[in-house]
Parts: sequence; C-alpha cells; structure tokens
Amino acid sequence: MSFPANFVWGAATAAHQVEGGNWASDCWALEHAKPSFFAEPSGEACDHFARYGDDLAILAGLGLNAYRFSLEWARIEPEEGAFSQNALDHYKRVIDACWSRGVQPIATFHHFTNPRWVARDGGWAGDRIAERFARYCEVAADALADRLAYACTINEINLPDAIGELMARVKGKHADRTAAAAAALGAPVESFFLFAGGEGYAERALRAHTLAREAIKSAAPHVPVGMTMSIQECEAEPGGEAALAAYKSLAYARYYEVAKNDDFLGVQTYTRMRFGADGKASRRPPPGAELTQMDYEYRPQALGAACRDAWAATQTPILVTESGIATQDDSRRRAFIRSALESVSAALADGVDIRGYIYWTLLDNYEWMSGYAPTFGLVGVDRRTMARAIKPSAAMLGEIARASALAGAACVAEAVVSSGAAVGVRE
Ligand code: BGC
Repeated sequence: MSFPANFVWGAATAAHQVEGGNWASDCWALEHAKPSFFAEPSGEACDHFARYGDDLAILAGLGLNAYRFSLEWARIEPEEGAFSQNALDHYKRVIDACWSRGVQPIATFHHFTNPRWVARDGGWAGDRIAERFARYCEVAADALADRLAYACTINEINLPDAIGELMARVKGKHADRTAAAAAALGAPVESFFLFAGGEGYAERALRAHTLAREAIKSAAPHVPVGMTMSIQECEAEPGGEAALAAYKSLAYARYYEVAKNDDFLGVQTYTRMRFGADGKASRRPPPGAELTQMDYEYRPQALGAACRDAWAATQTPILVTESGIATQDDSRRRAFIRSALESVSAALADGVDIRGYIYWTLLDNYEWMSGYAPTFGLVGVDRRTMARAIKPSAAMLGEIARASALAGAACVAEAVVSSGAAVGVRE
C-alpha cells in the first residue's frame, strides 16, 4: 500500500502539554485550584520549550517530514495587548529548526488554552472572544505565518459541543471543583475551552475561526489554512438512529459547513462512538472490546471512517492532524498505526482526498485532566531527568514515512508478534 507523492508524515504536540511552565494560561490556574478537575498540575511538562531542538532532531532522524505544534496565546499575549517579542522569537526559532532539518512546520494557533486575562473576561463563553483571538492571530501571523507549511486555527473547534453533555455531568457531580475552578479563573468554568459547549458556542467559535483565517491569509496568502475537528466513527445501535443524527447535527454539521470554505480540514480521530436506543451519546464499547488507557474502544479503523464522513460532507482536502492511542504496550501502538493507515489507504483508493497523517503524539505528555498517566507518545519521557526514549513504534512509523508505503518484512513480522496483545479487555 503506497501513499501519494508529497504525503505529509508527522507527529504532533501542543504547547501546554509539552513546553512546561505555562503559568499565564487559564489551564495552569485550573490545575492549581483546590479541589481541581485536573489529576495533577502540568508543571515543567516535557521541558520542550528548552528542548525543542533535540526533539525535532529525533523526529527528523526517524524519517518524518512534518511537525505539528501549537503557538501558545498565553505566552504571546500574556496581558491584554501586551505582546511578547521573546515568545514570537521562540516560535520563529522552532520554525527555523524544522526547516533546517527538512521538516515542514504546521502550527496551530489555539490548542485548548487561553491567557488568564481572556478567561477573566468570559473566555469562550464571552462575546469578545472572536475579536480577541483574531487580534492575537494577526500579530502571530505577521511574525510567523509566511514560513509555515500549514496553519490550523482552532484545535478541535467542535470538541466543546461534542463533549458538552459529558462536561455538564462532570460539573454537576463535582460542585466543589466547579466552584474552585471559578475562584481560580475569576470567571465561570465555562470560560475554559473544554467546558464552553452549548448555547451560542458554535457561532462564537466559528466566527473566531473565520476571522483568524482572514488574519493568517492576509499575512501569508500562500499558506493553507484550516480548522481541526474531533471526528469519531459514529454508529447507531438498533433504535439509536435519532440520537446519532442529533449528535452529528450538533457536533459536526455546523462545523463542516464552514470547513467547506477552508483550504483543508484537520481530522482528529481516536475511537468509535455508539448511540443506543436510550437516546444517549456514548463511547460505550461493544461487550468484550479491547480498551485503551483512556477507557475507550481500541478502534484504529475509525480513522478511515471519520475521513470518509468529513470528505462526504465537505469535499475539503483532509490532513489527519491527530490519530493515536494511549497504551503502555508499544506493540499495540504499532498495530494501531498500521491498521489506522490501512483504513486511510482504503479511503484514498475510494477517492477521499487525504494529504497526510500526523500521529498524536511525539512525546508522552500532559494529557489534560488525566495528568501524565496516559502514554500516547512515540517517544517516552522520564520526567525526572527529562531523558527521551525512542519507542519501536517511532522507528516503525519513520520507516513507513521514508518508504511512503505500508509494506516490508518488518511490518509483517510485527503484525504476527502483536496480534495477541491487549490493553485491557472488558468482560
Ligand atoms: C487533543 C489532544 C489530546 C488528545 C488525546 C485530542 O483531543 O487535541 O490535546 O491530548 O486528543 O486525548
């Protein structure tokens, strides 16, 4: 199975999850609330702010040709209207370090975190978010955009709506954490991206995306710009058809509509969602299904299904900007990557325009509310010494990238070795 010429092969990170010391952000404040929704604080994360050069050397050495990372708004504009030249220079150096190693830089302008001052003013639940985000994008794009290979505006722009019900339940269950979060932010917890879904969110976020796209395009007309979306394979159990349709119209359709005008759509897929006759959306795995460390179904082929859905709805070229698995068993990661790529290859053969595959994530890192326990990385990180350890899955993905094909004795032998393993089977 070979992939088109110029196929993008990469790995992704996000600033807050790897850089460390992102103390001007709303997420940092939430992590330190008492009690907190977050299992532990992000702290120094993977010290990637200092070690990005070594990390890029690993990525390039593996054979990958793209690095997706995010620009941290809280570093670039830590107080309203006060832009940090140091922060912009830092990201310039990251972009230079990519090109000097033959790696295409793909930057995301928003990956979940806001500066604290934005949160205090209502964040993603407030009326000023779109203009504020656009102004930051203008400054960041003027300084950085013309040397990007791709620009993503908002990471998983639809996620707050996709997980809205879940987050409402979480808030209801933990009134103490909700109150502590509001005290830490100086604003209701809905100002934080992950809690912002519901009434008016889609309009605000899509307006922010559209203004950001204009800002980036006017600084760098040649750079492809798109949003990224969280898109899972969706399936109705008997009687669950109406719930599935309602979910897709809430969490996907409005976003797809706007993505039709973009240069590409970032697809981010992790599992399958099933909808029962009880009318509830859930990630309920089928009985006996293998689960990942995130407790959702091991379902690599969900990626091909998500790409097909996005393509059918938008006809916008797709870049897989995230696909990955949290597991401690690296042989399951290797099997996952191969199966996910088989599903991409089958979709390509059926005419779906997919331009690349970016694995989530380069480094074992800070998995938001779950802290450091889930390990999605191609590269392990000893957080005491910050030493990096390249996993066999990293070498395998590099080999696939160099060949731009899923083939070879290594893959076949590997398939045999890993076929018996499981991450945690639910009885
Ligand atoms: C996010 C990442 C996250 C990953 C794994 C995606 O929703 O973009 O930041 O770490 O999923 O859960």
